[in-house]
Amino acid sequence: MLNFINLQTNISQGVSVSKIKNPELASEGKQKIDWAENNMPVLVSIRKEFEKTKPLKGIKISACLHVTKETGVLARTLLAGGAEVSLCGSNPLSTQDDVAAALAEEGASIFAWRGVNNEEYYWCVDKVLDARPDITMDDGGDLVARIHTKRQECLENITAGTEETTTGVVRFRAMEKEGMLKYPIIAVNDAYTKYLFDNRYGTAQSTIDGILRATSVLLAGKNFVVGGYGWCSRGIATRAKGMGANVIVTEVNPVKALEAVMEGFRVMPMEKAAEIGDIFVTATGDKDIIRKEHFHKMKSGAILANSGHFNVEINISDLESMCRGRKTVRSNVEEFTLQNGKILYLLAEGRLVNLAAAEGHPPEVMDMSFSNQALLAEYIVENGKKLQPAVYSVPQEIDSRVARLKLGALNVRIDRLTPEQERYMAGWKEGT
Ligand SMILES: NC(=O)c1ccc[n+]([C@@H]2O[C@H](COP(=O)([O-])OP(=O)(O)OC[C@H]3O[C@@H](n4cnc5c(N)ncnc54)[C@H](O)[C@@H]3O)[C@@H](O)[C@H]2O)c1
Repeated sequence: MLNFINLQTNISQGVSVSKIKNPELASEGKQKIDWAENNMPVLVSIRKEFEKTKPLKGIKISACLHVTKETGVLARTLLAGGAEVSLCGSNPLSTQDDVAAALAEEGASIFAWRGVNNEEYYWCVDKVLDARPDITMDDGGDLVARIHTKRQECLENITAGTEETTTGVVRFRAMEKEGMLKYPIIAVNDAYTKYLFDNRYGTAQSTIDGILRATSVLLAGKNFVVGGYGWCSRGIATRAKGMGANVIVTEVNPVKALEAVMEGFRVMPMEKAAEIGDIFVTATGDKDIIRKEHFHKMKSGAILANSGHFNVEINISDLESMCRGRKTVRSNVEEFTLQNGKILYLLAEGRLVNLAAAEGHPPEVMDMSFSNQALLAEYIVENGKKLQPAVYSVPQEIDSRVARLKLGALNVRIDRLTPEQERYMAGWKEGT
C-alpha cells in the first residue's frame, strides 16, 4: 500500500489528508485541469459566482467520481463555494494520477489511484465516508450502496445526494422500489443537459478514442458491433458509422431496435453478430451481453471493448474459462488465446474503455453535466431538507439554466415566443 500524504491546502482549510499515487505529478495534473477549464465556460462562471456567494460554506461533500481533469474543475468549483471535498474514484481504472495529485494540493482530500484492486477500491470509498458528508455525489451507485449496507452511521448527517450515471439511477430506483433508499437522490443523469450530450456525444467520441488509442485499428470497412441502442450506444454507433465502419446493433427493446433500423443500421441478435464482427463495444448497463456462446462464434482477431459502467457486460470469467493462454500485448490490450486456437483481444479489462484507455468525456460535455452537479449542491443546501427519501429529477429551472448558459457561452442566440404565440400554445380553441 502507498503512504498517506498530508498536504497543506492553499485555501485556508488547514490540512487535508489524501492517499494518491505520486504528489510530484501535481503540476502536470494542474495543467490538465487548467486545459479542461478553457472548455468548461459554464462551470467556470458558476465557480466565479460561488467564490462570491459561498453557498457551500462548511458543507461536507463526499464524492465517488471518475478522477479526471473535468472532475478537477468540478472539485475546484465546490471548493470555491466553501465546501470540504473528499473524493474517491468510481472505477479502478479511471483515475488520472496527475489530476489526483493536483487536487490533493489544491485542498481536496483524495483517495484514488489508477489500478486499485477491489479491497483498495472500497477502502477509498470508506475513507471519503469518514468525512461524514452532508451531501454525496455518486457515479454508478457504489458510494450510496456502501452507506446503506456497511456505513449506515453516515445516514445521520446526509441531507441528500446526486447520481451522475444511468447505472446508478437504475440501482437507486430499485432501492426506492424495495423501500430501501434512506435519503433523497437527484438523478443528474436524467437532466436533458446531461444525457442528451454527455451520454450520446461524450461517450461516443471518447469510446472511439479509447479503442483507437489502445489498438490504432482502422475503423473504415470493419464490422463494428454495438451492444445496445440507448443514449451511449446510439452515439457510439453513429460515430463509428461516420468513420466508415459497417455498424451492426444488438438490442432487447423493440422500439430502440426499430429506431436503429430506421437510422440505417443492421440489427440482429448477438449470436449472429458474433460471427461477423471485427470490433465489439457494449454500453447497455446490463450484464453478459457478450458471453461464452458468442466468444465461440467469433472470428480470430476480434476486438472486445465495453463502455457501460461496470465490467460485467463482457463475461470475462467465460473468456478466462475458454482460454489456454493470455498476455498483455499493448497498454490496455490483452490477448486471449482460446482452446481452439482463435485469438480475441480484450481492451481495458472490460472496464469503461473511454476512461481507461483514453481521457473520458471531452470537457465541453462535462461542462453541462458538472454544472448540474454544482448547482444541485447549492440546491440541496437550500431545499434538501424538504425532500423525501426518493429519486428526484433535476429541477427544470436548473436544467434550463445550464442550457441557456451553454448557448450563451457558444454565442448562439435563439428566438423567444411572442405574446401571441404564448397565448396560442396555451390555448385549445383555435383549430382548422
Ligand atoms: N463510458 C461512460 O463514460 C459512460 C457515460 C454515461 C453512461 N455510461 C453507462 O453506459 C451504460 C448505458 O447507459 P445509457 O445512458 O446509454 O442507458 P440507456 O438506458 O439509454 O440504454 C441502454 C440500452 O441497452 C439496451 N439493453 C439492455 N440490455 C440489453 C441486452 N441484453 N442486449 C442488448 N441491448 C440491451 C436497453 O434496451 C437500452 O436501449 C450505463 O451503464 C451507464 O451508466 C457510461
